[in-house]
Amino acid sequence: MLEAARVTKRFAGVTALRGVDFLLERGQVHALVGEHGAGKSTLVKVLTGVYKPDEGLVFHKGKPVHFTGPADALAHGISTLYQEPALVDSMSVAANLYLGREPRNRLRLVSFRQMYANATRLLDSLGIEVDPRAKLRSLTPSTRKMVAVARTVDTEDGLVILDEPTSSLESCWVERVHGVIRRLHERDVSILYVTHQTAEAYEVCDTVTLMRAGQIVHTGPISGGRPEPTG
Ligand SMILES: Nc1ncnc2c1ncn2[C@@H]1O[C@H](COP(=O)(O)OP(=O)(O)OP(=O)(O)O)[C@@H](O)[C@H]1O
Ligand SMILES: [Mg+2]
Repeated sequence: MLEAARVTKRFAGVTALRGVDFLLERGQVHALVGEHGAGKSTLVKVLTGVYKPDEGLVFHKGKPVHFTGPADALAHGISTLYQEPALVDSMSVAANLYLGREPRNRLRLVSFRQMYANATRLLDSLGIEVDPRAKLRSLTPSTRKMVAVARTVDTEDGLVILDEPTSSLESCWVERVHGVIRRLHERDVSILYVTHQTAEAYEVCDTVTLMRAGQIVHTGPISGGRPEPTG
C-alpha cells in the first residue's frame, strides 16, 4: 500500500538512499531495521513527502504520489511519528495531541472542553498517566515521547509509521508501545516500525527489511527466528 521504487536521495556529500525498492503491504507490521546512518529516517521522509527523491517514485495504494509533506500524507491516511517529533514545549499535553486537528464547535472555534475530554480518553486508553493540561515542558523525556506516540496512533486510518518510537523510553514504556502496535494491528492498521533494536523488531513485527548504507539488504517474513541477512 506504500511503496518506494528505485528511490535515490542525496545530501551534500552523502547518498542516503541508493536505488531503494521498498514495499509496505496492507496489514503488515513491518520492521525497518539498520544501524545508525543506514538511511531509515530518510526513507520514512521520502515516503511521507518531507523529502523529494532525486530519483525514483513513491506509490500509495498503487498510484504514484508526490506528497507535499506530513500534513498531505496524513490527509491520505498516513500518520507518522518522526524521529524528532514536532512538539511544542510551551503548550499543554492536550494541545500537542490535537495540534493542527483541534476539535471545533459549531462556530468553528476550538473546543477546549472537547479537546481535554478527548485527550483524557486517549491517554487513558494507552495507560499514560499525565494531566492533559500540564505543559509539555514539565514532562519527563519518556512521557513526552509517549505523548508523541499517542498523537500518531490516534487514527482510524490505514497506516501508521513510527520512527524509533522507543528510543528515549524507559523500559516499562517499551512494552506499552508494543501493546499499542498489537492493538493497531488487530484493527487492521498497517504499521511501519523503524528501529535499530533488532530484538524489538522481532518481538512485534511480522515482516522485516534490513537497510545498510542506503540500500536494502534483506526483506522477508519474521517467523520466530532471525533471518540471515543477505547481500
Ligand atoms: N538533512 C540531512 N542533511 C545531510 N545529511 C543527512 C540528512 N539527513 C540524513 N543525512 C545523512 O544521510 C544518512 C542516512 O541518515 P538517516 O537519518 O536516514 O539514517 P538512520 O538509519 O535513520 O539513522 P539513525 O538510526 O541514526 O536514526 C546519514 O549519513 C546521515 O548523516
Ligand atoms: Mg533515523
